[in-house]
Amino acid sequence: MEGKKISLFPVIILLTTLLVVSVFFYKLAFGWYPAKYTESAHVGVNRSTISSLGYAVGNCVHCHEQHASIEGSSHTPYDFSLFAPNNPDSQTANFCFQCHKGAGSVQVGGITNYTFSKNFGGGTATFTTIYDAFNPGIEPPASSHNLADVLNRAVSKAAWLYTANDNACIVCHNPHTAQRNYPVTVNAMGGVNTAVRKPGQHDDADYNLWGDEPKATSGWNEMMSDWTANYQAPYRVGKTTYEPAGDQTTNGSNLPCFVQTCRPWCHRTTVYSTERGANLEPINWTNLTSEPGTRSAHGKFANGLSKTGGWTIAPYTDDDTRNYVLSCTDCHEPHGSTNEWLLRTCVNGKDNISITEDGRWYEFCTACHYVKDFGSNHETYVDCSGCHGHNTPYF
Ligand code: HEC
Ligand code: HEC
Ligand code: HEC
Ligand code: HEC
Ligand code: HEC
Ligand code: HEC
Repeated sequence: MEGKKISLFPVIILLTTLLVVSVFFYKLAFGWYPAKYTESAHVGVNRSTISSLGYAVGNCVHCHEQHASIEGSSHTPYDFSLFAPNNPDSQTANFCFQCHKGAGSVQVGGITNYTFSKNFGGGTATFTTIYDAFNPGIEPPASSHNLADVLNRAVSKAAWLYTANDNACIVCHNPHTAQRNYPVTVNAMGGVNTAVRKPGQHDDADYNLWGDEPKATSGWNEMMSDWTANYQAPYRVGKTTYEPAGDQTTNGSNLPCFVQTCRPWCHRTTVYSTERGANLEPINWTNLTSEPGTRSAHGKFANGLSKTGGWTIAPYTDDDTRNYVLSCTDCHEPHGSTNEWLLRTCVNGKDNISITEDGRWYEFCTACHYVKDFGSNHETYVDCSGCHGHNTPYF
């Protein structure tokens, strides 16, 4: 017995060394951390129609039917062996809505998902499911990302390798690796648990999550603080803590860099919007005139307009030398909003923002600004959109 223990010892040392060395070389070769299913939020999948059959919670079978012979299924082989049609670009019947909706969700116990405004801004809940966010049903002025537009755009970039049969949600989420992102949890690599992937990393970097590690590890600007040193996190409701975590971190080191997920290919140039029935304008968040679109003061451009009138409010200072750079998610929801243009309902600690008519942004902009009279009755304008917006010189 004793002899056996001793002879095993060098083997264990050898195996441990091999493991450490291979992980080391793997890191050298790839840099980024390949996310695992076992660390994803979907280890909680539990489909009600099969939960009594003895499958462990988290088993792939809660989404895929290997044999199409499971009780309660339609016995029809759907794309990717899913238990229901993928309906890749349907706004209402998308496969993911089998669980991520209210009444009729097949997840045992159902799932509640809130907006960015609530989870990270601390605001009042507007939607409680992903289905509701994509189908806000209060038109106008409510808005949502059109899933067919999202998928079309992704498919149109050949190098991304999406096809018309892929699910539109997977352009921003990998169903096999997406992590629970709320409450914000800083991980061992110094990134955060994150639900999103970069749309362009569908191919070789399929298992990279966006925001789970800082640039120092992956070589990419995955955190907002990697992309700019000039990020200032907005307040959460209460105005004593900051987004997204509700703590004192303000430099964006706990926020995935959404500028890098929203802009490349999708919002760097014009993209068609069914909701608007028109092309959306390009968003230039850089300081480069060579990029499409007008450079924005909310991005890396210091537009030289004077803030000496005290036009930004805390936590932003009126220091003209401080060129603040905002995150797209400081103003926009990713899925849908009761406001137009996916504009958030809770911004910089100001809650229940309601934009009742096209272009009436006074309530919204005053979450971060004083809007004073510039000598032209500025505060009495009702429609701000004629002079303000991404592609005006005053944004
Ligand atoms: C939350 C639901 C869900 C769970 C759980 C899930 N999958 Fe999937 N899987 C999908 C969806 C949706 C697709 C189709 C993606 C698309 O539209 O391209 C897919 C696609 C696949 C594919 C096709 C190749 C690819 O990656 O696109 C494979 C293989 C696969 N899943 C394996 C697994 C395995 C193995 C497990 C368990 C460890 C698992 N899946 C768990 C939803 C799920
Ligand atoms: C254009 C990109 C995009 C698309 C398309 C998209 N999402 Fe998201 N989703 C995001 C971003 C960004 C977040 C992280 C911010 C957040 O949690 O609000 C997120 C967060 C989530 C979350 C976590 C919400 C929570 O409670 O924190 C769920 C669940 C989710 N998405 C499901 C879906 C489903 C289902 C679809 C398709 C019907 C979908 N998403 C399509 C960008 C997208
Ligand atoms: C069989 C049910 C089921 C299906 C189908 C399903 N999900 Fe989920 N999803 C869940 C459960 C359960 C969770 C974990 C919820 C929790 O932790 O509270 C979850 C969590 C998530 C999260 C992380 C949310 C968070 O809390 O931060 C994302 C993102 C997500 N799902 C996206 C998708 C996408 C995209 C699809 C379609 C490709 C999909 N889901 C299909 C059951 C499902
Ligand atoms: C300071 C708040 C704010 C920030 C930050 C912000 N947006 Fe916007 N966005 C708006 C407002 C207001 C509108 C509606 C006016 C307009 O069209 O420009 C809008 C409209 C848009 C449109 C539609 C443009 C059009 O008119 O066709 C897109 C696309 C967009 N935003 C993407 C982004 C992206 C991508 C980012 C991050 C790089 C971002 N936004 C950051 C406030 C913001
Ligand atoms: C989340 C906070 C936030 C929101 C919401 C916001 N802004 Fe700003 N805005 C800022 C900050 C911070 C600056 C300063 C940027 C800099 O330092 O370069 C700024 C700068 C500007 C400037 C340039 C002023 C100058 O002197 O450089 C204009 C114009 C402007 N915002 C208009 C708007 C309008 C119009 C809205 C509403 C549609 C809006 N902003 C919403 C935070 C915000
Ligand atoms: C007729 C054009 C016009 C209209 C309409 C207009 N603005 Fe402005 N606004 C301007 C100009 C020009 C500036 C830049 C002034 C400067 O700093 O030199 C400005 C500046 C601003 C700023 C930035 C202040 C700062 O320096 O931080 C905000 C915020 C703002 N406007 C909000 C609004 C809101 C809200 C509305 C609608 C209620 C609105 N504006 C309507 C022309 C307009």
